[in-house]
Amino acid sequence: MDWVKKFYSQTGKWWGPAESKITERDFERAKKIKRLAPDTKSILELGSGYGNTAAACARAGFDVTAVEISDRINFAKQFTDKKYSGSLKFIKADFYEVKFGNKFDVVTYWNGFGIGTDDDQKRLLTKIASEWLKPNGLILMDVQNPAKWCEWAKEPVVNKKANPAKGYNFNVSEKIEFDEAMQFMTDTWWETDNPTEKFTQKIRCYSPADFKKLLSGTGLKLDLIEPIGDELRKVNEYLVKLTK
Ligand SMILES: C[S@@+](CC[C@H](N)C(=O)[O-])C[C@H]1O[C@@H](n2cnc3c(N)ncnc32)[C@H](O)[C@@H]1O
Repeated sequence: MDWVKKFYSQTGKWWGPAESKITERDFERAKKIKRLAPDTKSILELGSGYGNTAAACARAGFDVTAVEISDRINFAKQFTDKKYSGSLKFIKADFYEVKFGNKFDVVTYWNGFGIGTDDDQKRLLTKIASEWLKPNGLILMDVQNPAKWCEWAKEPVVNKKANPAKGYNFNVSEKIEFDEAMQFMTDTWWETDNPTEKFTQKIRCYSPADFKKLLSGTGLKLDLIEPIGDELRKVNEYLVKLTK
């Protein structure tokens, strides 16, 4: 998993100036927490990226602790000197290594689950259930849907032109591939005029049936699956609610 810090720091350098701001997606995530876990006060957010969703959740009244390993977290400074009805704390760390002094009502992991092997995912889920969640706590997280990634992998290289007015300062290119046997997507990016230096993220995608199997032995059960956007077969990720 050596690629994680490098990939998200580099792509954060390309996109952070444009994307490190609270948008409708972040407010929608805060609303999902209110809808699916109405008694929530404290949240642990894993892989918080630029910190946009963490800030929207603090604004919505939650006490948020957010953990992020890459330099994307440097963009979160803009959020920490503001006043919220909840509270907001960022920790730059690997969430497999960090220790907390308290437990949480809800653990969230937006658009990040699937890094590493099945054993790595099991290790993470077991850690959340046994160490980080309160007895009645729950997980809300996105899972990558193989059907859509398989479809995207058939597309040719996409070139995305810089748009400095919007904060996109680099011309970049992307190629998605999908390993059908192992159900991994690889998503490779490079600066268009420097194709020798490529950056790849590799994410395990789970059909709902595979995801249910993964939960075995973790101390968690699947309470709900909700496509993000359209119907399940048309979307690249779906939300799961997991309870103890
Ligand atoms: C695809 S990004 C999603 C960021 C954000 N949650 C969002 O929805 O915009 C996944 C994030 O998880 C972070 N991440 C992955 N593994 C991590 C780990 N072991 N510890 C902390 N952060 C991690 C990555 O650096 C990256 O910023």
